[in-house]
Amino acid sequence: MANLIRQTTQLALHLVRPYVTPGSTVIDATCGNGHDTLALAQMNPAKLYAFDIQEDAISATTALLEANGYHKSITDGRFILRCAAHEEMDEYVASPVSAVLFNLGYLPGGDKEITTKAASTLKAVQAAMELLETDGVICITMYSGHASGKEEKAALLDFAETLDAKQWHTAYISMPNQKHHPPEILLITRKS
Ligand SMILES: C[S@@+](CC[C@H](N)C(=O)[O-])C[C@H]1O[C@@H](n2cnc3c(N)ncnc32)[C@H](O)[C@@H]1O
Repeated sequence: MANLIRQTTQLALHLVRPYVTPGSTVIDATCGNGHDTLALAQMNPAKLYAFDIQEDAISATTALLEANGYHKSITDGRFILRCAAHEEMDEYVASPVSAVLFNLGYLPGGDKEITTKAASTLKAVQAAMELLETDGVICITMYSGHASGKEEKAALLDFAETLDAKQWHTAYISMPNQKHHPPEILLITRKS
């Protein structure tokens, strides 16, 4: 097993895995090159949605899923990939949803200008919260090493602090001794 503490994206998937059961609907809100989508697919959910605003990301994710034997899951509508902004996820997804994964920032190797942004990410997280079932999870990997990521992280942590503790439970994982702004994880679960 990978050393999860050193690999934040693997840690995020490890945290999400127990929330995905054979009856689950799950969402990859930022599918990018499809690595997280494939990992969610391998958790065997009943329904999987993947969003990205870049057509190239949807093509890459489709190709990766197909290369891993999921062609039929795409054609029969079990897996739905949409080139759409994640803040519009409620137009495509029916609740209840058991897990929503956000891996924020820009596509590694892609255009750094096409990045998630504080205002739209907050809207998307709120949309995900509306869809989330009781005891479901939203898992957000945040990157504060670039200006807009720093702003996004601050906005998300401020937002998390405002959530009613009777209805929501949040957790925040940071890497206090690591240099160069390592990724961090924010988790939100619905209590009722
Ligand atoms: C860090 S990458 C995701 C990496 C991906 N999960 C993977 O496994 O390869 C972030 C992605 O978010 C996408 N993105 C940016 N703004 C978005 C938005 N409003 N809605 C959906 N996706 C968005 C970018 O196009 C980019 O592909």
